[in-house]
Amino acid sequence: MKILGIETSCDETGVAVVQDGTKILSNSLATSADMHIASGGIIPENAAREQVKVVIPTLSKALNQADLRIDSIDAIAVTYGPGLIGSLLVGLETAKAISFAKGIPLIPTNHLYGHIYAAYLENTNPPVFPYLALVVSGGHTDLVLMKNHTKVEYIGGTRDDAAGEAFDKTARLLGLPYPGGPAISALARDSQGGKYKLPRPMLDSGDFDMSFSGLKTAVRTIVVEKSLNTEEKADLAWEIEEAIVDLLVSKTVKAATHLKVKEIVLGGGVSANLKLREKISNSFSGKVIIPKPEFSTDNGAMIAGAAYFKNKRVSWDKVTANPSAGY
Ligand code: KG4
Ligand code: ZN
Repeated sequence: MKILGIETSCDETGVAVVQDGTKILSNSLATSADMHIASGGIIPENAAREQVKVVIPTLSKALNQADLRIDSIDAIAVTYGPGLIGSLLVGLETAKAISFAKGIPLIPTNHLYGHIYAAYLENTNPPVFPYLALVVSGGHTDLVLMKNHTKVEYIGGTRDDAAGEAFDKTARLLGLPYPGGPAISALARDSQGGKYKLPRPMLDSGDFDMSFSGLKTAVRTIVVEKSLNTEEKADLAWEIEEAIVDLLVSKTVKAATHLKVKEIVLGGGVSANLKLREKISNSFSGKVIIPKPEFSTDNGAMIAGAAYFKNKRVSWDKVTANPSAGY
């Protein structure tokens, strides 16, 4: 079954064709990152306006790469939420128009499941139920127990900022560009670490919840007290990355041990982080599945993949955007 996946929940425009939820026939991505560097973060209206321009060319590219015509597509998967309303509508209206015009079934797909199902893409050793998923992105930091494709239990997560948001906001305080995660990591590589100590709130709280907003305040306090030189900024970036990774790894491994699951799956933009990948793999005795970095961040293939496994077809006129959709 060939599914065309369309993802426009935030600033990226991703379109891909995936066969049977795992085999990528094409994966096309248009990013407006440069525009957001200039504004120091995403301005939703600007992101959506750019997506209106690039969605059709990105879709044509995906079909060309797969060497397919739209008539050979079995279903169209599209992100309906969570995300920015303007951006979601661009993908959703495109998908609905094609579905209506060509009579191709539509599968509205949840972005968060997209991040989890990225672990099945091009993976000869895919996840086995039950497993614990850590979805860690710019807007979410959630621990969910995946019992099977339909039974899912929320285990814990952030009570305030998402981990990606913590990277983005502290990066901004250090004068680094958006997205903050890769920028903090790159700068942290110039430091040996150990020069600053930031708080790790809720590390020993006994539950599986997390908190990242205090990190932002702690970094702000350091930055306003003294103008930092490049070396000090690198030392602080090192500690920011360390603190975020410590919290994520500690809570995830504790939850997996408590639940007695043998596998952990990581998804979402922050799971592209090399330190997180290394530390979680070294801290858990079971299997850790992390998609390739290009499938950690937003893309169309993960939406086509999730749609295949969760497959809920809906008539195009019944589909609406839900910016705050949950699991
Ligand atoms: O999943 P994603 O592409 O979009 C959302 O659904 O939000 O995640 C974007 C987030 C941003 O906060 C970005 O700073 C973070 O992922 N990110 C990273 C890395 N690459 C992207 N954070 C840490 N290390 C990275 N290498
Ligand atoms: Zn995402």
